[in-house]
Formats: sequence, structure tokens, C-alpha cells
Amino acid sequence: MRKFKAKALLLAAAVGLLILHLFKNFSDSKTLQHNLDVRKDQVQIRQPITKSSSYVYSWPRCQQNTSAANVTGFSSLPGNMKNFMYYRHCRHFPMLLDVPDKCGGAEKSAAVFLLLVIKSSPVNYDRREVLRKTWAKERLHNGVRIRRIFISGTMDSGFEKERLNKLLELEQREYNDILQWDFSDTFYNLTLKQILFMEWMERNCPNIRFLFNGDDDVFANTDNMVEYLQSLKDNNGSKHLFTGSIMVGTGPIRHPGSRYFVPVQVHESESYPPYLSGGGYLLSGYTASVIYNMSQSIDIIPIDDAYMGMCLAKAGLGPMSHIGVKVFGVDLPSSKLDRYDACYYRDYLLVHRFLPIQIYQMWHRIHDPKLICTKQPADG
Ligand SMILES: *[C@@H]1O[C@H](CO)[C@@H](O)[C@H](O)[C@H]1NC(C)=O
Ligand SMILES: *[C@@H]1O[C@H](CO)[C@@H](O)[C@H](O)[C@H]1NC(C)=O
Ligand SMILES: *[C@@H]1O[C@H](CO)[C@@H](O)[C@H](O)[C@H]1NC(C)=O
Ligand SMILES: *[C@@H]1O[C@H](CO)[C@@H](O)[C@H](O)[C@H]1NC(C)=O
Ligand SMILES: *[C@@H]1O[C@H](CO)[C@@H](O)[C@H](O)[C@H]1NC(C)=O
Repeated sequence: MRKFKAKALLLAAAVGLLILHLFKNFSDSKTLQHNLDVRKDQVQIRQPITKSSSYVYSWPRCQQNTSAANVTGFSSLPGNMKNFMYYRHCRHFPMLLDVPDKCGGAEKSAAVFLLLVIKSSPVNYDRREVLRKTWAKERLHNGVRIRRIFISGTMDSGFEKERLNKLLELEQREYNDILQWDFSDTFYNLTLKQILFMEWMERNCPNIRFLFNGDDDVFANTDNMVEYLQSLKDNNGSKHLFTGSIMVGTGPIRHPGSRYFVPVQVHESESYPPYLSGGGYLLSGYTASVIYNMSQSIDIIPIDDAYMGMCLAKAGLGPMSHIGVKVFGVDLPSSKLDRYDACYYRDYLLVHRFLPIQIYQMWHRIHDPKLICTKQPADG
């Protein structure tokens, strides 16, 4: 009898949820129409969108482009590349986690000096935890505000996907620092992730001064970044700045076994314009806005950092090299030296690649008031 009662209760609850769900979809579709109308005259670059045109979180599922299969040579491409081509045109995905007030509102976003935008997959919980306590800590440094945001998609499917989404939800409740969209967080979808972020930025932080954009496995000396950016006397974020580890004279890798494989069907040219290695770079709010604008008319390629270079080139701009960004690690003058000597890292802006435990140790060592460095940094 009790069992029966419990079942009946469950059933009633399920029906209730279903009704709620149907109702929600109905109201969503109304706001969606509104949002599509707004998007028609969407050239509101760096202009705060008013509260009344509230953002819509649920986009209809983007349909696969079946004609992609008609492209010459399609059948001989690797599975993940086929998949990329089927969904290449998709630029809108439902937002699962948002922090719209991260910059204190669109109008007040100029008060944020440096926004740290960190690409992180749901499963990288340990990396995020360490970054929150170290170089990505939200704080004032030298009198200016640093803010942090992780950008993420979804992983796996079924129960595992739900479990990872729940994890991010828990983190969000505690830290309020995650943007998550409902697309597969894969290597070939990194460009999509960047575009979704830039669109979010135009909406929520249009007047931000500078951004750091990078991976969650780098050691970033964000104190030095702030000091470097403050030293730019003629640029408060309203002019072009795009600096990091520069890549010149590269082009798409045509070997299907490579992680960076891009076939002619996706990028015909044999070269990429100069770009910055995606491990980490600094850019101004102005430049982020220009890149976003240009991205509207450039087909997505799966290599996100090269894509940013393409967007810049279209605007007639280019990247600059910064000597303090070491995406390929540091070269030590001698193999006898400790490669984790804090004195080398105190002067850099960024070094790739670090484990969470190393980030934690290094951040504390470079801030140790007792650290005495007599020698010059290893290189640069
Ligand atoms: C692609 O091929 C299918 C048949 O495989 C055909 O029905 C369709 O019209 C083709 N689309 C284009 C755009 O050529
Ligand atoms: C679908 O793919 C075909 C072949 O690559 C392309 O010509 C067409 O523009 C694509 N359609 C969309 C909506 O992107
Ligand atoms: C990108 O994400 C979309 C949405 O989840 C997915 O359909 C597509 O397969 C992904 N693309 C790649 C190359 O993983
Ligand atoms: C940034 O500098 C420009 C001039 O280059 C100036 O017009 C603008 O008001 C400055 N913005 C802020 C927030 O100080
Ligand atoms: C944005 O792009 C459009 C066309 O793609 C162009 O007309 C406009 O001047 C651009 N705005 C900025 C701020 O770059």
C-alpha cells in the first residue's frame, strides 16, 4: 500500500514537471523570437545592450549540414573532421551557466582592468581549483581590478555528462566564475568556444580594458601582466593590443594523423596569417571587439588561435611578440640548473605547461619575500 502511494506521488510529480517544462519551452520560444528580432540589427559593437532586451539562453538545436557530405573527398576524411564539417555553421548554443554581472554590468565594465578568460573542460576540476587560489585569484593588484572566468562546453553523454554538469554547477554556486554552453568541449570546437565567449563579452563586458586568454595548464604571472599593461602609456584598452608568442609563416597541416590536421576542403590556403599561440596571450578590449566583428564573416576553422589571426588580418591588424611569453617552456643555460627555480619565473608573463601542483608551488615561491634572485632570467 505504502509502495503504491509512493508510486502515485512520483507519477504526480513527474506530470507536474512535464507541465512546467512545456510551459517553460513555450515562454522560451516567445523570448527567442524577440531575440532573433534583436539580432537582425546586431551591429551594436561595444554598446551596452539594455536590460530590457534580456538574453535568451535556449537556442534551438543546430541541425547538421548534410550537404557537407557532398564535398569532394569527404568520405576519406577522419571521423572528427567529418563531424566538424557537419556542424561548422553552428554558432549558437544554449547557455547552461552564466555570470552576466561578472564585470559589474555592461556600463560599469570599464572598471575591470584585466579579465582572465581561461579555456577549461568540465573534467579539469583540479586545475580550476588551483588557479582560483593562485594566478587567477580575483583581486586588486597595483590598484586595478582582476576578474576571472572559465569557459566550458559539455563532455561525454548520458549520466557522465549530467554528472560533470552537476560538478560545474556546484563550482558555480561557490565561485560564480563559469560560462558553460551546451556544445561538445572538443579540440575542434575551441574556435566555437572563443566565438561564444566574445559574443558574451560584447553583451556583458563591452568596455573592459584588457583580457588574458589562455589554457588552464599554464603558469601565468598575472601580477606582471597587470604591471606590463599599466606601463602602456598610450593604450588604456581602447586601442589595438594583441601580444604573446607569435607564430609566423605557418600553414594548415595536411597530414590526417596530426592533432592540427586541416584539409583543403576546410582551409584552401596553404598559409595562416601571423597569429599568437593559444596557450595564452594578452589583448585589449578594443581588439577583442574587432576580432568578434570580423569573425561574423569568416568561416570557422578548427584551429582556434590561427582563426583569431585570420580575423585580425581581415581587419588589417596583426599580433605582436612579447618576450615574456614562453609557450614552449623555458630554455635553461645549463642542464644542471633547476628548471623550476622561481627566479626564472618571476620575470615571465606566461610559461606552458604546468601541472596544478607545480602552479601552486611556483605561485607561492615567486611571492616569497625571502626569495633572492641574483642571476638574470634564463633567456629573454
Ligand atoms: C548533396 O547530395 C544529396 C544526395 O547525396 C543531394 O540530394 C543534394 O541535393 C546534394 N546537395 C547539394 C547542395 O548539392
Ligand atoms: C553546407 O555545406 C555546403 C558544402 O560545404 C556549403 O556549401 C553550405 O554553405 C553549407 N551550408 C551551411 C548552412 O553552412
Ligand atoms: C561541436 O559541438 C557540437 C554540439 O555539441 C557537436 O555537434 C559537434 O560534433 C562538435 N564538433 C566537433 C568537431 O567535435
Ligand atoms: C581611454 O583613452 C581614450 C583616448 O585614447 C579616451 O578617449 C578614453 O576616455 C579613455 N578611457 C578611459 C576609460 O579612461
Ligand atoms: C564590423 O564589421 C562590419 C562589417 O563586417 C563593418 O562594417 C564595421 O565597420 C565593423 N566595425 C568595427 C568596430 O570594426
